[in-house]
Amino acid sequence: MTREELIGTNANIMKGVIENVVKYSPRAIIIVVANPMDTLTYLALKASGLPKNRIIGMGGALDSSRFKCYLAKATGANINNVDGMVIGGHGDTTMIPLVSKGNGNGVATVNGVPVSQFASKKKLDEAVANTMVGGATLTKLIGTSAWYAPGAASAMMVEAILNDQKKMVPCSCYLEGEYGQSDICIGVPAIIGRKGIEKIVKIDLSKEEAEKFAASADAVRKTNNVLHEIKAI
Ligand code: 2OP
Repeated sequence: MTREELIGTNANIMKGVIENVVKYSPRAIIIVVANPMDTLTYLALKASGLPKNRIIGMGGALDSSRFKCYLAKATGANINNVDGMVIGGHGDTTMIPLVSKGNGNGVATVNGVPVSQFASKKKLDEAVANTMVGGATLTKLIGTSAWYAPGAASAMMVEAILNDQKKMVPCSCYLEGEYGQSDICIGVPAIIGRKGIEKIVKIDLSKEEAEKFAASADAVRKTNNVLHEIKAI
């Protein structure tokens, strides 16, 4: 099966699911847990006709958990003290684990202290690289990555909605100008609460991170084009 055929198959399944969700549960907030994550989130938005706050792609939550795990190993810190986020597309080459932002303050921290104080650049680079192939690594080890972690990440998001937690979660959101992008679903930090995506949080990116984000959006858009080619939207 070619990549296009695979996307087409998943897109058609997603479309059927979405049509039924809208028909039988019109007030639903939809968390998309399927690949290609950002493209299927975009399809869910377009196919459902729901407002953008009610369609959320799960990828960034999972990728950020993996990143925190690798950062904890690199820094030797307690994982509960580690903070870090992954933005961009949910793909091996499109995700962007953030180590530090342009002004030199760490986005990745141990209780607010930049991770660079606890680990060498080499170790942090390794944590980034391991995060980016996190899904593929699991697939090599156990044949799939559709295992506990995606379930835990999705449950965390459901809890944030049900309990109106206003939790900041990196996830695939529909952008209308934020981060210089429009008409695309891609991973950015967002406040998740009772209404779904309640706010997209704008963080300062370094020049390099901003360039990576633009390249990631280009790649996601290319995949989105398949949806037009197969007339899914
Ligand atoms: C994962 O990241 C492959 O998207 C799947 O586990």
